[in-house]
Amino acid sequence: MCGIVGIVGTEPVAGRLLDALKRLEYRGYDSAGIATIHEGVMDRRRAAGKICNLEHCLDASPLKGTTGMGHTRWATHGVPNETNAHPHFVGAISIVHNGIIENFSELRRDLVADGACFETQTDTEVVAHLMARYREEGLEPKAAMLKLVGRLKGAYALAIMLKDHPGTMMAARSGPPLAVGHGKGEMFFGSDAIALAPFTDKITYLDDGDCAVISRDGVAIFDRAGTPVDRPRQVAQAGVSLIDKGNHRHFMEKEISEQPEAISHVLDRYIDFASGTVRTGNSAIDFGDVAGLAISACGTAFLAGSIGRYWFEQYAGLPVEIDVASEFRYRQIPMSRKQAAFFISQSGETADTLASLNYCRQRGLKIGAIVNVTDSTIARAADTVFPILAGPEIGVASTKAFTCQLTVLACLAIAAGKARGTIDAFQERALVGHLAEIPRIMSAVLNDIQAQTFALARQLTGCKSVLYIGRGTSYPLAMEGALKLKEISYIHAEGYAAGELKHGPIALIDEHMPVIVIAPHDQFFDKTVSNMQEAAARGGRIILITDEAGAKASPIIPAAQIVLPNVDEIIAPMIFALPVQMLAYHTAVIMGMDVDQPRNLAKSVTVE
Ligand code: AGP
Repeated sequence: MCGIVGIVGTEPVAGRLLDALKRLEYRGYDSAGIATIHEGVMDRRRAAGKICNLEHCLDASPLKGTTGMGHTRWATHGVPNETNAHPHFVGAISIVHNGIIENFSELRRDLVADGACFETQTDTEVVAHLMARYREEGLEPKAAMLKLVGRLKGAYALAIMLKDHPGTMMAARSGPPLAVGHGKGEMFFGSDAIALAPFTDKITYLDDGDCAVISRDGVAIFDRAGTPVDRPRQVAQAGVSLIDKGNHRHFMEKEISEQPEAISHVLDRYIDFASGTVRTGNSAIDFGDVAGLAISACGTAFLAGSIGRYWFEQYAGLPVEIDVASEFRYRQIPMSRKQAAFFISQSGETADTLASLNYCRQRGLKIGAIVNVTDSTIARAADTVFPILAGPEIGVASTKAFTCQLTVLACLAIAAGKARGTIDAFQERALVGHLAEIPRIMSAVLNDIQAQTFALARQLTGCKSVLYIGRGTSYPLAMEGALKLKEISYIHAEGYAAGELKHGPIALIDEHMPVIVIAPHDQFFDKTVSNMQEAAARGGRIILITDEAGAKASPIIPAAQIVLPNVDEIIAPMIFALPVQMLAYHTAVIMGMDVDQPRNLAKSVTVE
């Protein structure tokens, strides 16, 4: 997603803006730009591709000025080239924008009819023309901003610089996040606390519908009616160490390796080891009083929820309605206030997930947010936040957030079972005991399977397509494996319920199609073995990911296998996620892919 940063300061800003944009690279982008005002002149440098291209532009032709803005663009309207890169200039206006202006076509049509000339294909330029128009009509900046936001439909975060007001900068938020940073004699705008971390940790998050004006002395925030509003100033959680990869080649490798530690933080938060019980804190959701659950999320977070669904049904006897957020709110699912809804999101900013949350909010459901960023929009919209405590996840491919989400969901399912009487104290202690083993087992597995997954990855690099299959909680994990592989290696992959193989996908099977079978030795193992045999009989290359018991019990010798320790079924998804993640990672590295910032992808998709 696009990244925004703005500075109204006393020192030259170009270099600091560039550093801030580097901190926003993780969001995914395909062009970048910076603009400053210096001695009445507003100037800019923009470049397609990586930020290093913009850096070369600035080296060749530096920008002066103590007021400026920067932007990393993830193209929605208009190809990713220099012309379409932000900041956009129209008259005395410079603008950067994150989001989508849904009514930009009609606005553009009216402006063109009024004689406006457009340079770009972007929706952003429409906003710049409108603001310039209102200023030329003689409106003061604040009145012009209010008129502007009154015309816009869609999700947007805007920052606007005015050449004739060099000591100020304006912003508006409706959807994608925007934060104000409080410095000493200087003020900032940023898409998130990460961008502002080198400048300040004193942050004020704008609410939906807020407008703001910053100057060196501070910030004025007002609502759509122009009424001043107060928003709390808080200390941000994002650390400056964030962009440090340590001794790892990629953030994804670092984050895979951080999982034992991250999950230990989750267990510390949700487990009382002394009593062997789960603790979910002061939750607005009383599991003893809910008739059912709704779960909605996107991508990997959705697949975590899909695994959690099995646990809520199995351990708590709760019916679960789940769907990807982009479908969930259009299905008109019958809902009642007796249901609770969980929204899972690493970033806490995914537009589709937030829209599903608002859909459930309007229907009176209690809302739980299972998020990594606890001051995110989704977190702030929920009745109760269940932090996943994964620490900043920078790699676009979600790894530690996934297993931390699973661990939180497992704790919630146990808490729900306890509240509903479907789990007794003995069973709770046993399940908690299994959860407590995750960090130790993960550490061992991460060490043990490095060489195996690297060797296996070599076999995958030449494939056109890969099939992942599993049953029970291994079915969503098969889909996660396919998602991991395709999003960083660009090899087509599909995750399927193993039992569905014979209903179509088996037609794909031949010696060129690896079939990765995720099969712990659980209640489904024998049936999954039958599916393996069906595939093997048709020349399919079986790669079996199983445990010691499964390796011993399997009647066929797969082309390759990864053997994990025997673990209880409630922690199998967290443990079996590791080879799935590492297989994708090594395959992408061998293929020379941009592992942390795969093409076309963003870390947080803040547009629907
Ligand atoms: C996962 O590897 C992807 N990067 C993507 O599917 C991601 O999980 C999805 O966009 C949801 O993001 P969120 O967890 O921040 O809401």
